[in-house]
Amino acid sequence: MTDLLTPVLSDNWDQDRAWTLASYEAQGGYDALGKALVMPPDDLIAMVKDSGLRGRGGAGFPTGMKWGFIPQGDDKPHYLVVNADEAEPGTCKDIPLMLASPHTLIEGIIISSYAIRANTAFIYIRGEVLHVIRRLHQAVAEAYRAGHLGRDIAGSGFDLDLIVHAGAGAYICGEETALLDSLEGRRGQPRLRPPFPAVAGLYACPTVINNVESIASVPCIVANGSDWFAHMGTEKSKGMTLYSLSGHVELPGQYEAPLGITLRTLLDLGGGVRSGHELKFWTPGGSSTPILTAEHLDVPLDYEAITDAGSMLGTKALQIFDETTCVVRAVLRWTEFYRHESCGKCTPCREGTWWLAQTLQRLEDGQGTESDLEVLVDLCDNILGRSFCALGDGATSPITSSIQFFRDEYLEHITGGGCPFDAEAATLFATAGAHA
Ligand SMILES: Cc1cc2nc3c(=O)[nH]c(=O)nc-3n(C[C@H](O)[C@H](O)[C@H](O)COP(=O)(O)O)c2cc1C
Ligand code: SF4
Repeated sequence: MTDLLTPVLSDNWDQDRAWTLASYEAQGGYDALGKALVMPPDDLIAMVKDSGLRGRGGAGFPTGMKWGFIPQGDDKPHYLVVNADEAEPGTCKDIPLMLASPHTLIEGIIISSYAIRANTAFIYIRGEVLHVIRRLHQAVAEAYRAGHLGRDIAGSGFDLDLIVHAGAGAYICGEETALLDSLEGRRGQPRLRPPFPAVAGLYACPTVINNVESIASVPCIVANGSDWFAHMGTEKSKGMTLYSLSGHVELPGQYEAPLGITLRTLLDLGGGVRSGHELKFWTPGGSSTPILTAEHLDVPLDYEAITDAGSMLGTKALQIFDETTCVVRAVLRWTEFYRHESCGKCTPCREGTWWLAQTLQRLEDGQGTESDLEVLVDLCDNILGRSFCALGDGATSPITSSIQFFRDEYLEHITGGGCPFDAEAATLFATAGAHA
């Protein structure tokens, strides 16, 4: 049995002016940095490996192992790049984290850079979140003034510069190699691998790219030890994490809990599906993870169990949809997003997302035929695994999973000559009008 809520990253969010250095330090902030800077960098890498921390950006790759790929003893500069692009529909954990407690991330960046022997680090953040960019700039300036950044940090001989870089708001720039191209001043498009960023990343030098939450989790591991972290969660999915509950739920928000908690428990904590309604479908980790239904309420929210259930944990963006939602329309909206955000580099995704959106629109408008369902499945089959990056794969997830679980609802659009939810709304409207 796992504990319910375990606020660690979010523990100080309700403190007065939690984003300031004074508030952060009053809560023990930057103590872990002092501890880390007297450790050999390799011991820090081993500590993060032992903790079992897995990347919180979606794929769940072990963080310590990623750091271990950085060649040591080479004469090249090393870079740490924090991925703060956060554009996946439904994903909304990194921005609150940076807004509420930017120093948690900055402390994590300093420790992580020291571990991988990087003297320059970047936060790549989407340009639209101007308020968060301002807050980061202020926090970075505070950290420089306090001597946590810059030359000879705390007398350790370690130097680090931290640059906050605002992107222009393209979803593809969250893909780590497109991000690197964008950071270098080019159009953001994914790179061919190998070489992997650990060998030839930013400016062709060894680079670690990690998600905001991954790096922000490092100080608490250093402060409390790898066993403390590994004690939370499940066998292969360790630690606590931020679950973002949104949509048709009474109390949407960030719920920090050990990996392996279930949606049923989180919904109980969040006041349940909005009053008078019931769960229809949900995403475990944003729109690019296959949707699940009420029958999956008790699946542990960890990497393994969610995969076994046919989806992916992704970013733990739990979007809740009740019975008033038309699944075809919801999937169409997501597909329009992928069509718009496709970078155009490869044909299956560039052309395929366009056809997917057109076919779905036809179905939603009641002008589709049953064979359109086969067209959708066939298109997805030709995109999945044949695209240059995971954006194309992700675009297929909501479509194939919604056809799997809600084929009848697609068929109703065809037989009824339109969206049944529109008809229902029109009837309600007419009835209300008649009574007025
Ligand atoms: C289209 C696309 C968008 C992505 N967007 C993000 C993002 O906004 N933030 C993020 O951390 N990872 C994102 N990723 C995953 C990154 O490529 C990469 O796996 C991640 O930053 C690695 O960090 P982690 O190991 O700490 O999870 C995206 C991937 C794809 C394919
Ligand atoms: S899958 Fe889509 S986003 Fe990725 S490279 Fe191909 S066209 Fe670009």
